[in-house]
Amino acid sequence: MTKTAALVCIASLGLAGTAVAADLDKGKASYEVCAACHGPDGGGNKDLNAPLIAGMPAWYTERQLQNFKDGARGTDPKDIYGVQMRPMAMTLADADAIANVAAYIEAMEAPAVKATVEGDVEKGKTAYATCAACHGPDGSGMEALNSPPLAGQHDWYIARQLEAYKSGLRGTNPKDTFGMQMRPMSMMLADEQAIHDVAAYIATLD
Ligand code: HEC
Ligand code: HEC
Repeated sequence: MTKTAALVCIASLGLAGTAVAADLDKGKASYEVCAACHGPDGGGNKDLNAPLIAGMPAWYTERQLQNFKDGARGTDPKDIYGVQMRPMAMTLADADAIANVAAYIEAMEAPAVKATVEGDVEKGKTAYATCAACHGPDGSGMEALNSPPLAGQHDWYIARQLEAYKSGLRGTNPKDTFGMQMRPMSMMLADEQAIHDVAAYIATLD
């Protein structure tokens, strides 16, 4: 081994264990596929049922993409929207490709979304007191509790996910550890109206 090669070896050993910076250019290239549904700005598209993803923390995006790939999410044939997303996650070859696109998405500035769900904001606020323990009082999420941000997301997507957890389309696969934690929380919302109320309240959070 030449002296230089040995030095390169030692330098890369020094990096082992520390996170290697994600490659935003590669992430951007992968994102071209995603833009078709989530939009070039990551703002989502109601007509295509695709949520806002711009600005979403990379730890959460990576986990969801892995979940789709592993079949922890999006395998139940009744989960029509998850089933649409799953093959898209498959376009990401490995953990590096997932990390790169997640870093690119995190760096995107989230556009403002329009409220669409009608609900009783005051009742929703009362219900949200429970949710705040994990998702934060301002809905900005808590990584330590594995809970994603909710503020800034489309209200129709929030409502649909709550219905998906309740009906068991999401959060029932044993591989979906964190979805299984969320599912009992959705059960606290008695009916469709309660789901709409809390979604309407979340839409008021900055
Ligand atoms: C054909 C349309 C389509 C394409 C293309 C697409 N998605 Fe999706 N994506 C969806 C839909 C629909 C959902 C909502 C699934 C659900 O309701 O559970 C979704 C959900 C997601 C979620 C979950 C968001 C959350 O809050 O849990 C992530 C992350 C995501 N997509 C990332 C991507 C990435 C990255 C790409 C590109 C590699 C991509 N999507 C390409 C349609 C698409
Ligand atoms: C015990 C902690 C905890 C509580 C309390 C909780 N959640 Fe969650 N929630 C989670 C976790 C963890 C996830 C991520 C699940 C995953 O990775 O799929 C989640 C995911 C979600 C999602 C999916 C977001 C997305 O982008 O797809 C929604 C919507 C949601 N929660 C709404 C609520 C609401 C509304 C309440 C109150 C009724 C609530 N949560 C209470 C832990 C919690």
